[in-house]
Amino acid sequence: MLGPALLAVSQKPHVRRLVTTLPISRDLVARFVPGEAKADVLRATRDLVEAGMAVTIDHLGEDTSSLEQATATRDAYVDLLATLDETGLADRAEVSLKLSAMGQALPEGGDEVALANARSICEAAQRVGTTVTLDMEDHTTVDSTLAILRELRRDFPWVGAVLQTCLFRTEDDCRALAHEGSRVRLVKGAYAEPASIAHPRKHDVDLAYVRCLRILMEGDGHPMVATHDKTMIAIAQQLAREAGRTPDSYEFQMLYGISVTEQRRLRAEGEQMRVYVPYGVDWYGYFMRRLAERPANVAFFLRSLFAR
Ligand code: FDA
Repeated sequence: MLGPALLAVSQKPHVRRLVTTLPISRDLVARFVPGEAKADVLRATRDLVEAGMAVTIDHLGEDTSSLEQATATRDAYVDLLATLDETGLADRAEVSLKLSAMGQALPEGGDEVALANARSICEAAQRVGTTVTLDMEDHTTVDSTLAILRELRRDFPWVGAVLQTCLFRTEDDCRALAHEGSRVRLVKGAYAEPASIAHPRKHDVDLAYVRCLRILMEGDGHPMVATHDKTMIAIAQQLAREAGRTPDSYEFQMLYGISVTEQRRLRAEGEQMRVYVPYGVDWYGYFMRRLAERPANVAFFLRSLFAR
């Protein structure tokens, strides 16, 4: 239960202030985030591509509270996409977006603002021949995110979605999105959710992951199996074989800095592996979710604090 407690505490402004100003945080963040500047993410992307991986890049930012902030984040993505093209990386690297960073939570017309910003990014991605995936945030945003996905897919049918198996609704969402051309990233879910709408026990989230994997693998879309869990990975490979899939019809995805040996092992086996690489100054929310996923990370963080 350490994870949900940490996520709850991380919302408090004084905890945010403390963590973002501690020098030790910078060292620990570097494990999960290659840097704050575009040059940092380009370096990490090139290294991964040279190692045979594909990449999806997240320009960190969430909880955007002004139109200006949302516009700045959109512009950073458009600029990044142009640079991926110039550096010859666009055919191996796509981008992942959080709609909250695009303005989804703005009090007036948030959905419309987020859709317009995401549309501009999709246009930029299309120009350079790559794709976009919409990250999924907490359960209050799922309907809005899937509605924006449907709108975007009218013009950009390659836009990817993320579904979280912690939510009761997700098997139905998987069925709805398991159609031809549909790119679906399946994750367990990184947000603390109420028991009225989500599985409280990790074991049930894992069982739901297997059920959702089966729906996606037996469907006609392109499943993106985003997990570091070796059992889920083995089951995904088995289900892909049973469904008669070839390795180019699905892919594995993992986060930058996590299970790196497993990333390389899968690639060496001939699987497609895409690494999710975040960058930017707004690393706090992403970092706290990575800590919360694993009690050992929290213990390591606390030990490092007191060791200084
Ligand atoms: P699980 O939590 O069971 O971990 C399995 C093993 O992986 C652990 O035993 C450990 O070895 C390793 N591991 C996992 N997390 C670790 C960590 N933080 N540090 C060190 N080791 C760790 N979530 C979401 O809600 N919305 C989204 O859009 C996304 N997007 C996304 C993209 C990609 C590419 C990935 C891989 C994940 C996400 N997630 C996400 C996060 C996801 O929901 C989930 O929280 C994490 O992937 C951890 O769950 P696992 O499936 O790895 O299993």
